[in-house]
Amino acid sequence: MADRLSQIAGQLNYPKGMLAGQTAIITGSGQGIGAEAARLFANEGAKVIVSDIDGEKAQTVADSITNEGGKALAVVGDMLDASYIKTLVQAAASFGGDNKIHIIVNNAGYTWDAVIHKMTDAQWDAIIALHSTAPFKLIREAAPYFRVKDGEPRCILNVSSTSGVHGNAGQANYALAKAGVTGLSKTIAKEWGPAFGVRVNTIAFGHIETRLTQAKEKGAFVTGPKGEKIAIGIPEATKKRTGDQAYADIPLRRPGTATEGASAMLAICSPLFSYVSGQTVMVTGGRNM
Ligand SMILES: NC(=O)c1ccc[n+]([C@@H]2O[C@H](COP(=O)([O-])OP(=O)(O)OC[C@H]3O[C@@H](n4cnc5c(N)ncnc54)[C@H](O)[C@@H]3O)[C@@H](O)[C@H]2O)c1
Repeated sequence: MADRLSQIAGQLNYPKGMLAGQTAIITGSGQGIGAEAARLFANEGAKVIVSDIDGEKAQTVADSITNEGGKALAVVGDMLDASYIKTLVQAAASFGGDNKIHIIVNNAGYTWDAVIHKMTDAQWDAIIALHSTAPFKLIREAAPYFRVKDGEPRCILNVSSTSGVHGNAGQANYALAKAGVTGLSKTIAKEWGPAFGVRVNTIAFGHIETRLTQAKEKGAFVTGPKGEKIAIGIPEATKKRTGDQAYADIPLRRPGTATEGASAMLAICSPLFSYVSGQTVMVTGGRNM
């Protein structure tokens, strides 16, 4: 009987997977950890909104998911633009076909480092706006889709960093913003958990290999809110990668891949974590224990 039912379900293309039928917004999913999360969430049956400021990359990610038989829509814009946040939420609610949003992963971001006595107001304001204020605004805009009692799961995941948990020289702005989202997660977990069952967690990455952590010498840059050209990456000299000393501060002795980072995101957003809320999950290869 069970076999027959699953056969019929298969014929009807009934959604399968741990996130079957859920709609997920993943910000900054045009590349890196977010892009991998988009792919993994879609593999588990989620309808994924690929949100990114980089239109070409977002479209490529959405197309590759669609070509693999998954469901994805690229919604392109800047998380610092209040009107984009409204568009994003509306697009997600209508893309799912049921006027629902189940998952938000607040992942978009970059770093703009300086030691504190040289940090400008522009650096400070941009990083706080992107890593703390934008996640708050997205969650507030999506509130009507999370403050519901339809018996379906709801999950918010804010992305932090070891810099936010432990501090990091040269990253006062980023450390404050990334520490901020842990408080945001815990507060929403307390506000929306009791009546609506919304789970809210934080994931703090250590060193994951993406554009953000590649050699600065490669010359990658992002454009700041006022058109500033911001170099991203880590200078080779500070990576300390030689011999036995390579990644000496990481018990697993290597950085993580974007897929490993995204797999942890999937685990947290999946039913496997249905009784986990308000936590900061460290994805660091054991660094900073
Ligand atoms: N890679 C790491 O080691 C590491 C460590 C700790 C935390 N993080 C955090 O993980 C998240 C993902 O980082 P990643 O390493 O995948 O970086 P990435 O550079 O590979 O991807 C980040 C994505 O965010 C997008 N983005 C940036 N600003 C945006 C904006 N204003 N509006 C919309 N989209 C925007 C970029 O276009 C890019 O596609 C970030 O929040 C980052 O701070 C990463």
